[in-house]
Parts: sequence; structure tokens; C-alpha cells
Amino acid sequence: MEDRYGHHISYLRVSITDRCNERCHYCMPTEEQEWLARDEVLTYEELLRLIRITVDLGVRKIRITGGEPLTRRDVIWFMDQLGKVPGLTDIGLSTNGTLLARPVGEGGVTHAERLRQAGVRTVNVSLDTLDRTTYQRVTGRDFFPLVLDGLEAAKSAGFEQIKLNCVLMRHRNEHEIWDLVRFAETHGYLLRFIELMPVSTTEVLSEENFFPIAEARRLIEYQFGTLEPAPDFRTNGPATYYRLSSGQTIGFIGAMTNLHFCETCNKLRLTCEGRLRPCLGSHLEHDLLGPLRAGASDEELRRHILEVVDKKPKEHDFRGAYQPGRRMIAIGG
Ligand code: 5AD
Ligand code: SF4
Repeated sequence: MEDRYGHHISYLRVSITDRCNERCHYCMPTEEQEWLARDEVLTYEELLRLIRITVDLGVRKIRITGGEPLTRRDVIWFMDQLGKVPGLTDIGLSTNGTLLARPVGEGGVTHAERLRQAGVRTVNVSLDTLDRTTYQRVTGRDFFPLVLDGLEAAKSAGFEQIKLNCVLMRHRNEHEIWDLVRFAETHGYLLRFIELMPVSTTEVLSEENFFPIAEARRLIEYQFGTLEPAPDFRTNGPATYYRLSSGQTIGFIGAMTNLHFCETCNKLRLTCEGRLRPCLGSHLEHDLLGPLRAGASDEELRRHILEVVDKKPKEHDFRGAYQPGRRMIAIGG
């Protein structure tokens, strides 16, 4: 699949739930929100059908997100089915990490191990801080020890790659950048720093909170020496990677300040209510749940999907007049 700007679409991010056991202020609005009702969310069968159709159209990589995907019931059953979809070469999961060490059922096998068995190759774990109090302030929950356990469980499960996603926030975590770099190096995690985006509430993105990746790079260089661009190193997303002389690779996701951010975009997003979004930073979305439940054929669904690809914008509109209108937690981080 290719859009009108030459973006080659091969990557689908799928949010399987809007629910989460945490309350990150940059992801959720402050006032309590109702969760979606169960029948407003795509069933696992519906998800698998849409995924199969996108794979027929050229998607090769799927990343499962939420909310927190591991809070959805029978998620391991779903991941097992996903692992069997022919044509998928890469399955990843984005998680807050709090449930990775939890046993699945009675057996004592962790979620991490079962996910690995299902064929998940990489996990991305959100980690903005190594300080328990700051963690609680950012996520609204005192779950930092659970995340550490979750990371250990992921390590023993033998994923091909474990990434740490760190959202940069001024006065919150810039003083921890060096510690995060060392922590990632010690454990062999691939660390990525992410610029705050105006996705759930605009007020989150004030000049007071925003911390650009260029500043993070300068801080890292001051302590660890030159960061050499590593253009050979690519994952599937919009991160740019740099290497320290120690050999450690670090990623930077400059959604706000990197003007080339959207050039290599290869992704679509499916929200948990069955809306296909061509871009996180644009209001465009196209309902697939309606047609799906009205009995659309695979061919009709294929046409809907291609229509969305055709509308994929050249670039996101975060820097313009973007008003989120939607909660990140429902779109999928
Ligand atoms: N800005 C940047 N990243 C965000 N995430 C959620 N909300 C935002 C935001 N406003 C990211 C977090 C988390 C993932 C699920 O989405 O890094 O790791
Ligand atoms: Fe939950 Fe992740 Fe959103 Fe935090 S960023 S509220 S952990 S979905």
C-alpha cells in the first residue's frame, strides 16, 4: 500500500482497549472518564479479521497497544491467534510494564513468557523515571516496583529487543536522563526519548513542560561524549538513532521539533473502537466497526482501508492548530 506522498504502509498499530491501570497525566484527561462499553470495542475476532485484511494489503508489522493491552481479558489467547496470522513478520507490544511479571492463570508462567511464546518479538515499556515518587506523580500510581519486576520478567522471557520509552518533561525528569542512559546500558535495553505531544490535553504541552530532544542530546553528550548519528540503525518507527562511543544506541522521537519526522512514516492506527487513523496528529479517522457489523465483505473492508491510506496526510498537524479532541488512551500510544 502506498499513499499519495509515497509513504509505504507496512505497519499497523492496534489499540485493543482504552482501559489502563495507570493515569499518566499526558495521556489521560484529568477529569474521570467513562471507559467504553464492551460492545463499543472490537471483539478479538473482529480485530483478527481486520488485521488479516491489512496483512493481505501489505502490512508486515503489528504493534499491540492500549490503554494498557495486558488489562484486557484473555489477551494471551488473542496474542496466540495473532501469532498464527500468516504473512506477519513482526509482532510487538507496547505496555506500561506493570503486568509483565504477573502469572497467567494458575501455572506460574508470566505474561512476558506467554507473550514470547505467542511470537511477540519486541516489547516497548514506558519508563519516564527511575524515582518511585516521580513515577507516582507522573502515572498516578505507585507501581514503579511492578515495572522493575516486569522488566526483569521480560528479560528472562528472551525478547529480541526490549525498548524503554521515556517521555521528556521539563522539571520532571531531565535530571534523570543520565541515570536512564546508564540503566538502559546496564540491562541492555534500547532507550528512546520522546517529546511530549499534545495528544490528550493541550495544556500538558506548555513551554513549562516541554523538553526538546536536542536538549536531551546535549545533556547526554556533556556526560558521555559525542553522539554519532546511526542512520544504519532503524526500528520501524520515526525515531532517529545515535550511538555513544561505548557502543550504546539511543533513540530520539522528536515529534514536535524534527521537521522530517513524518517523511518515513509507514503506519496506520486502528483504535479500539474500530476506527482507522492514518495519522496520530490529525483528526482524520474512518469507522470500520459500522461496516464490519453491518456485514461488509472482505473486499468492501479492503476498499475502506485503501480509502484511509489515500487520505494519509503529508505530515502531522501537532505544530499547527491541532486540538486533540480525542484521548491518547483510546487511540493507542
Ligand atoms: N506525548 C508523548 N508520548 C505519549 N505517550 C502517551 N501520551 C503521550 C504524550 N502526550 C506515550 C508514552 C507511552 C506510550 C503508550 O505513549 O510514552 O509510552
Ligand atoms: Fe496507561 Fe500508558 Fe496512557 Fe500511562 S501512557 S495512562 S500507562 S496507556
